[in-house]
Amino acid sequence: MSKSLQAIRGMNDILPEQTPLWRYFESTVARLLDNYGYKQIRMPIVEFTELFKRSIGEVTDIVEKEMYTFDDRNGDSLTLRPEGTAACVRAVLEHGLSGGGQPQKLWYIGPMFRHERPQKGRYRQFHQIGLEVFNLDGPDIDAELIVLTWRLWGMLGIRDAVKLELNSLGTSESRGRYREALVEFLSARLDKLDEDSQRRLKTNPLRVLDTKNADTQAVLVDAPKMADYLDDESRTHFEGLKARLDAAGIPYVINPKLVRGLDYYSKTVFEWVTDKLGAQGTVCAGGRYDGLVEQMGGKPTTGVGFAMGIERLILMLETLEQVPEEISRQVDVYLCAFGEAAELAGLTLSEKLRDQLPNLRLQVNAGAGSFKSQFKKADKSGALFALILGDDELAQQVVSFKPLRGQGEQQSIAFDALAAHLATCIVQG
Ligand code: HAM
Repeated sequence: MSKSLQAIRGMNDILPEQTPLWRYFESTVARLLDNYGYKQIRMPIVEFTELFKRSIGEVTDIVEKEMYTFDDRNGDSLTLRPEGTAACVRAVLEHGLSGGGQPQKLWYIGPMFRHERPQKGRYRQFHQIGLEVFNLDGPDIDAELIVLTWRLWGMLGIRDAVKLELNSLGTSESRGRYREALVEFLSARLDKLDEDSQRRLKTNPLRVLDTKNADTQAVLVDAPKMADYLDDESRTHFEGLKARLDAAGIPYVINPKLVRGLDYYSKTVFEWVTDKLGAQGTVCAGGRYDGLVEQMGGKPTTGVGFAMGIERLILMLETLEQVPEEISRQVDVYLCAFGEAAELAGLTLSEKLRDQLPNLRLQVNAGAGSFKSQFKKADKSGALFALILGDDELAQQVVSFKPLRGQGEQQSIAFDALAAHLATCIVQG
C-alpha cells in the first residue's frame, strides 16, 4: 500500500477484535467514577497552543518537542492536546465551574497526541482517562484519588502487578528554596553532569533528578533532598496523605526523585508503575496543582488529578491474562431463514423479540445462503443459539431452536413462546 494511505506511525487503529476489551475497560472505569460521584466533561481535541505552553511549561519535553502544532486558516496557532489537565482547567474557568469555591470532581476520556518515539506502550496518539478535582485542598481528596485507582486495579485483577510511588514537591515557596539549593549543589559539579542535565540545570533544574544517566545519578546521591525543604504546610499535607493510605492498607514507596514531566505540580505527586510492560511502566500518574488555575488567569483554586494510559492498561490485562472470557461473545442468538417467506417472517419475529427483550443480542442472517453456509455463519458469530426458520416451521408458526454450544437438544418453539424461552436461557449483563 502506498505510504500516504497508511495510518500515521504511532497512531493505531483499534480493530473490531480489540474493541470488546476497550469497552469493558472503559465501562468498568466509568461505572467506578459514577459511584464515587465524579461527573464527565468533554473538551475539544484542539486548543490554542498558548494554553499548553502556559500550563504544562515552556521548558518541558512535551512543549519543547512533542506537540502537534499547526496554524489554522486564520493564522491562529493550534495544538492537538498532549494531555487533558490544561483543557479541563480552561473549561472550568471559561464556564465558571469552580466559581464561589465550590468543589468540582470531573473526569474525561479521549485521545491525546505527543510526537514521541513510538514503541510498545508509547504511541503518538494514545488514550487517557483523567480525573481533575477543584477546590478541595486537603490530603483526604488526594487519598480518595489513590484509593479509587487501587479499587480499580482490584476490579481489573492487576493489583499485584502495580506499585505506587509517591513524593511531595511542596508548595511553590518550599520548592523555590529547594531549587536554589539543588542548583548550587549541581553547579559545583557541572563537569560531572551529562549534557542534557547541564542544559536542564539552567532551564528546569528539578528535572535533573529524573535523569537516566548513570554518572549524573551518582552525583545526585549526595544532592540535597526535597523532603528536607518542605515547609510545615507541605509536610502536614504529605503526612496526612500517608496516614490515610496506611489506614486504607495501600502500600506505597516514597520516591524522592519523582518530579513528573509537567511543570504545574505542587505538593503531592504520584505514579502507579509496573514491571510487566518493559520500559513504559507508568500506567497512571498525577498530582496536585494548586497554583495552576490562578496562573491561567483564574481566582486562587486548588486542583488535583491524574490520568491513566488506556493502551498500557489494556496491555496489562492481556499480559496478565485478565481479559474476562464473556466480553468477546457479542451475539446471543443467530437467526437463519430459508426462502423469501421465511425471511419476511424472520424480520417481523426478530423485531418483536427486540421489543420484548431490549438487551437481546440478536444477529439476523443477511445475504441469504444455503443451510450449510448460514449455519457456518451462526457458529462463527459466537452465538449460543441458532433460530431456524424454513417453510416447515413457518407453516406451524414455530422456530427450530438449536443450541450451538452443547446446551441440550434442538426443539421447536412457538413464535409466541420464544421471548419467554430466550429469557430463561440467556443471562444478560
Ligand atoms: P502524564 O504522566 O504525562 O500525565 O500521562 C499520564 C499517563 O498517560 C501516563 O502515565 C501513561 O500511562 C499515559 N501516557 C502518556 N504518554 C503516553 C504515550 N505516548 N503513549 C501511551 N500512553 C501514554 C498527564 O498527562 C497529566 N495530565 C496527568 C494529570 C492529570 N495530572 C493531574 N491531573
